[in-house]
Amino acid sequence: MKQSAWDSESNRSLHVAIIMDGSGRWATSRGRPREEGHEAGAAAVRRTVEAAEHLGLGTLTLFAFSGDNWRRPSREVANLMHIFEEYFRRDLPRWIESGTRLSVVGRRDRFAPQLQEAIEIAEAYTAEGRGLHLRIALDYSGRDSILQAARLLRRRFVEPTREAFAGLLGEITNSGGPSPDIDLLIRTGGELRMSDFMLWEAAYAELIFTDQLWPDFCGADLVAAVCEYHTRDRRFGRIEELIAS
Ligand code: IPE
Ligand code: IPE
Ligand code: MG
Repeated sequence: MKQSAWDSESNRSLHVAIIMDGSGRWATSRGRPREEGHEAGAAAVRRTVEAAEHLGLGTLTLFAFSGDNWRRPSREVANLMHIFEEYFRRDLPRWIESGTRLSVVGRRDRFAPQLQEAIEIAEAYTAEGRGLHLRIALDYSGRDSILQAARLLRRRFVEPTREAFAGLLGEITNSGGPSPDIDLLIRTGGELRMSDFMLWEAAYAELIFTDQLWPDFCGADLVAAVCEYHTRDRRFGRIEELIAS
């Protein structure tokens, strides 16, 4: 049955994740420095979060900086770190007002103390939010998360089951429970790859790859993607007749 994107009852349980790619190319295609692309990318994040709130999504995870992105020139990395800090500080009042809960997923120990502090403040002040759970993946690596969970399993002498593993991944990603499976994964920027993003959690994710560059992404694009998601037939290995049972 086709559902509208605005069915907030069913959207409430949805976990949408976005690999926000293409900001650098957006800038260079305009003859501008890559930094401007990242600034424009932050504006796209704001629009997308607002749309997610209006759609009544349960969880939105945004991949903003991978563990491998440290390999970029230090100038670009410093600029990104600055944008992240400003984003957390500037958008905090809006999240409090809209009941959005912010979590940052990934390592933090490689960030400057000011950025760590901005993250901690934003998380603390939004902890009671009952609306959208907004997760920003920063210095995140899917492979490293899996390795970390495996090490924890061994250290705690836990039987390696799927449930135990998802539980530990949830602990590692501050999920407040098992790491939630991704229902819909969107990647902008035209590349057809995962780039080390949530490999475990995306096992049965519905995938949407778009050529659109991240700074061009807007609320209507998220609505369209959620609409498309609702037309997909998710079988999880079963055959259609048996899904209802
Ligand atoms: C994604 O955009 C943002 C980050 C990885 C920080 P890019 O910076 O990768 O943009 P392109 O892919 O070079 O255009
Ligand atoms: C993936 O984009 C990481 C983020 C969007 C944060 P990259 O631009 O780093 O990915 P590759 O290098 O093209 O695989
Ligand atoms: Mg890229």
